[in-house]
Amino acid sequence: MKFAVHRKEVTESTNNDARAGSHGDVFTATEQTAGRGRIGHRWLSRPGDSLTFSVVLSVAGMPPEEAATLPLVAGLAVRRVAGGAIKWPNDVLVGGRKIAGILCERVGDNVICGIGINVNQTSFPPEIADRATSLRLVTGREQSVAGTLDRVLAELSDLYEQWFRGGFAALQPEIARHDALRGRFVRIIQTDSDPEPVEGICDGVMPDGSLSVAGVRIYAGEAHVCATSA
Ligand code: BTN
Repeated sequence: MKFAVHRKEVTESTNNDARAGSHGDVFTATEQTAGRGRIGHRWLSRPGDSLTFSVVLSVAGMPPEEAATLPLVAGLAVRRVAGGAIKWPNDVLVGGRKIAGILCERVGDNVICGIGINVNQTSFPPEIADRATSLRLVTGREQSVAGTLDRVLAELSDLYEQWFRGGFAALQPEIARHDALRGRFVRIIQTDSDPEPVEGICDGVMPDGSLSVAGVRIYAGEAHVCATSA
């Protein structure tokens, strides 16, 4: 697919800018003044060190539960560039630390797929310092922010075409090879119907995009890896 990239120096949130876009539009900014993360979190990024962008992708005609797997598809695109593993449902980790986060929002027949990637940071705020990393820290070299965008978009184009034609099940084997949670003891705070957290050994991401934990399939939630099962 072809992308049209719209660049700004400063914006509130590229996900907000993308609400005016259509399929294939990409909105990126050097600085976000009100970057948003999942479940009401803020997404903080230092200008020039981070890649922040939002891609508008059509999900027309797809069942809603299939469309809901798009964060995993975006995660795979980032993983192909950054390495590491996918932490269901929306993070990419390298060496167990978060290198990218994804916030997908549905607008009509489109999904706005917002991606934040730590590119050139060499330090982080104290509250995330032990959980975050960047491409520069992983590779030992300064990286091009624009070049990283080009590489992620090339992978996303390939993966989106496969996903739109064949559904998530076609991509699940690639996730299974790079699944940060499979085999770990996890606690999942569910964010949809059931308020009860689920704990147990994680069986990994299933072909329908759910996370299986001790045989229970979870469709929306936050995953926490527990040090022990006690
Ligand atoms: C998360 O890890 O909670 C998701 C973070 C998503 C951040 C990206 S940066 C580009 C886009 N614009 C936003 O305001 N958020 C997303």
